[in-house]
Amino acid sequence: PIVGETHPHESAVGHVTGSALYTDDLDRRLVGVLHAYPVQSTQAHAKILKVGIDGAYRVPGVVRVITASDIPGVNDQGAKRDEPMLPVDEIMFYGQPVVWVLGEDLEAAKAGAAAVEVDYEPLDSLITLQDAIAAQSFHGIQPVIDKGDSQAAIRDAAQVFEGEFEFSGQEHFYLETQNSLAMVDEIGQVMIHSSTQHPTETQDIVSHILGIPAHRVTVQVLRMGGAFGGKEMQSHGYAAVAALGALLTGRPVRVRLDRTVDITMTGKRHGFHASWKIGFDDEGKIVGLDATLTADGGWSLDLSEPVLTRALCHIDNAYWIPNIRVHGRVAKCHKTSQTAFRGFGGPQGMLVMEDILGRVAPQLGMSARELRRRNFYVQGQDTPYYQPVRHPERMEAAWQQLLDGAEIERREAEIARFNGSHEHAKRALALTPVKFGISFNLTAFNQAGALVLVYKDGSVLVNHGGTEMGQGLHTKILQVAATTLGVPLDSVRIAPTRTDKVPNTSATAASSGSDLNGGAVKDACEQIRERLAEVAAVKLGVPAHEIRFIRGTVSSLSGRESIGWNELVHAAYFQRVQLSAAGFYRTEGLHWDLDIMKGEPFKYFAYGAAASEVEVSRFDGSYTLRRVDVVHDVGDSLSPLIDLGQIEGGFVQGTGWLTLEDLRWDTSDRPTRGRLATQSASTYKIPSLSEMPEVFNVSLLDKAHEEGAVYGSKAVGEPPLMLSLSVREALRQAIAGFAEPGTSVCLASPATPEAVFWAVQAAREHS
Ligand code: MTE
Ligand code: MOS
Repeated sequence: PIVGETHPHESAVGHVTGSALYTDDLDRRLVGVLHAYPVQSTQAHAKILKVGIDGAYRVPGVVRVITASDIPGVNDQGAKRDEPMLPVDEIMFYGQPVVWVLGEDLEAAKAGAAAVEVDYEPLDSLITLQDAIAAQSFHGIQPVIDKGDSQAAIRDAAQVFEGEFEFSGQEHFYLETQNSLAMVDEIGQVMIHSSTQHPTETQDIVSHILGIPAHRVTVQVLRMGGAFGGKEMQSHGYAAVAALGALLTGRPVRVRLDRTVDITMTGKRHGFHASWKIGFDDEGKIVGLDATLTADGGWSLDLSEPVLTRALCHIDNAYWIPNIRVHGRVAKCHKTSQTAFRGFGGPQGMLVMEDILGRVAPQLGMSARELRRRNFYVQGQDTPYYQPVRHPERMEAAWQQLLDGAEIERREAEIARFNGSHEHAKRALALTPVKFGISFNLTAFNQAGALVLVYKDGSVLVNHGGTEMGQGLHTKILQVAATTLGVPLDSVRIAPTRTDKVPNTSATAASSGSDLNGGAVKDACEQIRERLAEVAAVKLGVPAHEIRFIRGTVSSLSGRESIGWNELVHAAYFQRVQLSAAGFYRTEGLHWDLDIMKGEPFKYFAYGAAASEVEVSRFDGSYTLRRVDVVHDVGDSLSPLIDLGQIEGGFVQGTGWLTLEDLRWDTSDRPTRGRLATQSASTYKIPSLSEMPEVFNVSLLDKAHEEGAVYGSKAVGEPPLMLSLSVREALRQAIAGFAEPGTSVCLASPATPEAVFWAVQAAREHS
């Protein structure tokens, strides 16, 4: 079958030669396009006294200033109705858009924005997570996961530890910034091209902001130049600005944020604060955990609640915790509204657990590697939210495949020799596991639709509800459609995602794009194939169930009788057989009760294991990532090259979060309080070639067929990001190499060279 074959990304050539079009390229084909630019607030928290827009209209080329009073429907762009598209009287973060200026070109719009005068009355602001917690400033729900009796278990435990940990968020830094282009027709229907992961929600939010029904709003997504969760929710407001501008002026309107505007205005991965208490038995097995996780939510809720839920559901990572109580909170403060980011809270939950294990292993007198393995789930155990862990043997298998393939024991001995003879440089090798739940926690989101069209010439056009952001979803869907219909890959094409072709879609998120949309496309293709089999049966004189469709040839079981796909389609058309079908898929067997945080929210778990080796210098904390080995479970891969790319990309992005990327807000009392100081590539460092591991071996878990998923495959988009926890743990172990044996090492996150330097100093002092 074509699924499982190695094919390059369907747009790979376009990506690297620059011929692939993005939303921002489309306006070149239009005349009279207006450009939008925001006026951003220069206060973290303030009352708006007056907005003077007259100056803007004196700037040549300025056509229109959009203010809150221009909004015909509901002034709200959020999921929870707590997020005005434009503020009416109160500024909630430094950089918040106050009004938008439309100009004949970008320069005019910018000059117009600079001429707008805003008078503020500053109010007290909360910038840091610590300050928000101290002020008890929270929003939304405070979920609790509760199983067994954690207090009693910890009280009776052989060893008990407690601690705190606060770690940083992450900027998405997609290459293509937020982008929308909107136009209206003569009867007020709005067409929006948007770089969004969630076209249906863009449609919903634009329709309620404009006060028109959803059937008058169409959203199209051609492709995105990266999204990583940053365009799941955050893109809607910009689409609404473009749509409103188009409605007010009758002209196409383009919103494209430049990098600094994007970084200062859009939400990021949530940083978290964690406090915890954990008990172990004599063998190093966890007997109880009590923890409070507080997500740094920013000014509005956005997706903070579901992100927090996923964090709580992943604090166990791959470990059995018989007694557990975890309390979650979302802090409200005057910063950008934090949002989805690859892993969606999962990485934060797992970081807390891996940090705990890395810290306490020396005190338990055990290697961190052994401590981790000893706590893996085994058959018959269930998660803190009562979902049975059905294939725990896969975790064990991935771990073993890694131990063998990466020659862990030989290298550990080698590292011990190196450390024994080097005073100022230490090496370490750390292994960490990943277990990540696949499906949206909210059961309703686990559905998808497709519309597959076969034209008279035999060519196939597939519409589905998923969006392409570089992850290779379209490539996988092409392979699924070609396999199911039994046609060559190049007779199938994928249309841009559009809400008027496939309605009521879910976000392309939670790594479930190929599971859900692959299922829907397969369903549509099967309907068409069945109809065509009837036609072929008559032509070939064999029963329909014996007809086979393989790469463009339709034949009987024996292969003696056959007919070409194109010829069969042509014949079917003349017999008036329907050549298109709508497909649908829903994930069966899921249930989730948010109020009590119990259920089976996940269809299955994706597993993986990584081993990272680092070398740290004592003098300045600088380090190199010498070698990384990964074994990851993708089921039966739909498209191995795509999966390898996702694993490598996810790993590197996670490593950036944990080691390099350092968001800094101004927490001083100067007038710039609340301003994001790291607002471009010069101050916010993402991984580049120089931070890539010197050796990087990725292999897929053997014998990993997943029953009941599309062609036995598993989701891959997010889980590998968390394999990067091994880099952080390797750094911790290398730092420990400078101290007395048994020293527990605390390490800040991100573990920048500076943070590593201070951790080395502290470890040496304490030992
Ligand atoms: N890969 C690329 N190249 N670009 C992206 O924006 N987003 C990630 C992941 N991989 C992303 C990516 C995130 S956050 C998710 S949820 C999944 O892709 C979404 O796509 P999927 O469901 O098709 O895996
Ligand atoms: Mo991904 S964070 O679920 O968009």
